Amino acid sequence: MEQHFAVIGNPVGHSLSPIMHEAGYAQTGLAAHYQRFQVEEGDLRQAVNGLKALGFTGWNVTVPYKEKIIPFLDELTPEARLTGAVNTVKVLNGRLVGHNTDGAGFVRSIQQVLPDLTGKKAVILGAGGAARGIALSLAKAGMEILILNRTPERAQALAVELQAQNTRADWGEMQAGKWLQEADLVVQTTSVGLHDEVLPLSLQGIASEALVVDIIFSPAETPFLCEARNLGCRTLNGLGMLLHQGALAWEFWLGTPAPLAAMEEALYNG
Ligand code: ATR
Repeated sequence: MEQHFAVIGNPVGHSLSPIMHEAGYAQTGLAAHYQRFQVEEGDLRQAVNGLKALGFTGWNVTVPYKEKIIPFLDELTPEARLTGAVNTVKVLNGRLVGHNTDGAGFVRSIQQVLPDLTGKKAVILGAGGAARGIALSLAKAGMEILILNRTPERAQALAVELQAQNTRADWGEMQAGKWLQEADLVVQTTSVGLHDEVLPLSLQGIASEALVVDIIFSPAETPFLCEARNLGCRTLNGLGMLLHQGALAWEFWLGTPAPLAAMEEALYNG
């Protein structure tokens, strides 16, 4: 029987998940479809129940519902519980199971360039929902973490949470400092750069061995990433994270390895 998958959020018009997953179905011969549904906040409960009633195998959840969907689910995986956010739902024996593949997807994407993260230093710019998921996953991978944010109190709250899990973590304002010479990884998690705005921070003085990541993928190169490249750093945008969170969702839904090459090809060329 044909299987059905979807992404729900608002907006979802620009989501690349349908292209990526459909390419995977074509590659593996799986009889499945992946759709996108824009849902208004007041309709979220009904949308979730509707997807279940219609027999969907599972779906992704994007902004702004990753936290708001939780009350409508029956159980959460440890990853979803830890991050307090759900990006993947599976219907299992009639129960809705919420999972989170964003953080692990991010770690997989950077491990293509930095395979061993243990004991290395990560600097995260921003302290919102995206930063939190990434910070928790990098901490789990054994990294030492510095959170820098425009509003330092939010950076502090996140750093204290990491410290409570025995991670070496610190915080500060978003400004240059000696961290620039020491960072092995710098991750830009704010929305600054989506419309070509420039962060109130320059990477001047960064060690050229550092890997610099911006989780934005459109534009493919934000002004931040462009500066990092000009300073000689290796750079990655958010497409790798998108690919790997999708592959991990595939594995969660179907229990089989995702056809990574086909999904990647669709994302980069689709
Ligand atoms: P998300 O869930 O996408 O991470 P969020 O929770 O709203 O979104 O967090 C947005 C992040 O971008 C925050 O770290 C925010 O900084 P503040 O905590 O100081 O608000 C950061 N941010 C947004 N606009 C910014 C700007 N113009 N300059 C610097 N940081 C900015």
